[in-house]
Amino acid sequence: MAQTATLTIDGKTYELPIIVGTEGEKAIDITKLRDQTGLITYDPGFGNTGSCKSAITFIDGEKGILRYRGIPVEAFETNPNFVEVAYLLIFGHLPNAQEKLNFSERLTKNELLNESMKHHFEGFPVTAPPMAILSAMINTLSCYHHQFFELEDNDAFMEMAARLISKIRTIAAFSYRRSLGLPFIYPDPKLRYCANFLHMMFSLPYEQYYIEPEIEDAMNLLLILHADHEQNCSTSTVRIVESSEANCFASCAAGVCALWGRLHGGANEKVLEMLEKIHQGGITPEECIKMAKDKNSSFRLMGFGHRVYKNYDPRAKIIKTMVDKVLTKRKINDPLINIARRIEELALADSYFIDRKLYPNVDFYSGIMLRALGIPTNMFTVIFAMGRLPGWIAQWREQHMDSSMRIARPRQIYIGNNEMSFVPLEQR
Ligand code: SDX
Repeated sequence: MAQTATLTIDGKTYELPIIVGTEGEKAIDITKLRDQTGLITYDPGFGNTGSCKSAITFIDGEKGILRYRGIPVEAFETNPNFVEVAYLLIFGHLPNAQEKLNFSERLTKNELLNESMKHHFEGFPVTAPPMAILSAMINTLSCYHHQFFELEDNDAFMEMAARLISKIRTIAAFSYRRSLGLPFIYPDPKLRYCANFLHMMFSLPYEQYYIEPEIEDAMNLLLILHADHEQNCSTSTVRIVESSEANCFASCAAGVCALWGRLHGGANEKVLEMLEKIHQGGITPEECIKMAKDKNSSFRLMGFGHRVYKNYDPRAKIIKTMVDKVLTKRKINDPLINIARRIEELALADSYFIDRKLYPNVDFYSGIMLRALGIPTNMFTVIFAMGRLPGWIAQWREQHMDSSMRIARPRQIYIGNNEMSFVPLEQR
């Protein structure tokens, strides 16, 4: 028997359907609420509002569970392969050998940028924020691939997905090289996805960057851990842009902009800045905790807290373990890791954080991880975007194929002036 919710307004009772997800989550279906009652709901930040039905990622925030198409994220720790996970998220299953070969070949075929795109990098100041470049260049890609504005079939979609996933790497690496005044290093078709990215970032014209297997694995796992996260701010942005039937390039460029914010993907950079400030003696871990608790301060403990996780973010756990391995492998003694651990220890013992269920999230240790890989701080959120891109494409495709979805157009509660007369200029 279908469950319903009963709503009584001004003595009148309404029955609203309850829908149940495959993991037992329940939602009150209010798609007919305004027609039936004349009222709307009010939920700034949408913390209590489901925007869609999705089969891509499942999160249980209370238990700290994250699954991609049903597979627990921990399963990807061994032999991490970002291209396989990208395929899983987008097409709904892990690729078999032939599917993986075909998709990898598409990625390799599409690794270069159109040569005329290089000039756009020259137009940015060397101090340009890489996220600004990334968003601009993803939109610019659409100027060279407008055949994907209308997707006729699955093959066209797969080709578009491969171009975006392959070229974001090249754009990211080129923006890094430009910022240092270094020559662009072209992709090497013999290298796998992450190895090719590291090659484009760190090789020199006549000196191939040596890619240690452990570092390649760490890069794969880091991108996997960022690959999708249900209806977060940037993914919701991608879906909203898609809902107007804009193309996937425009939707992902908008996703980059949403991810940039310090409360979202920009947090990893802010965590590093916070740890650096502590390291340089500007502030102590104890003072950090105190400021984070001070309602009169806008300071937030970056890398802590989450809208959905009210438990330890499973991604933070994995990254924390991975950081130790990479620091040991590279024989790096990074003082920031000890500061981060101290902050975590203080916060998890403090009632302010315990009562609010504030735990480390994906951004808390990822910055130290990226630093150990040689990635500069201003590129951290770009790496996050590289990882999240397959998730954005998967969510874009799921909505694009869902005929029940409509253009996103929320309502509001108006609190402005009631009707008033126009006052001519001479009387103002
Ligand atoms: C990501 O949504 C996703 O899935 C995102 C993400 C993904 O993969 O896409 O997981 C990636 O964005 C991770 C989050 C990265 N951001 C940060 O680390 C920034 C610091 N964190 C916060 O700003 C905050 O926790 C958010 C933005 C992550 C969540 O904000 P909410 O859900 O709106 O929570 P809130 O602001 O309502 O906070 C509830 C309470 C408040 O205190 P009270 O008013 O109840 O007294 O907790 C406090 C907040 O002041 N609080 C914090 C805090 N986070 C929440 N206090 C100090 N430091 C913090 N970090």
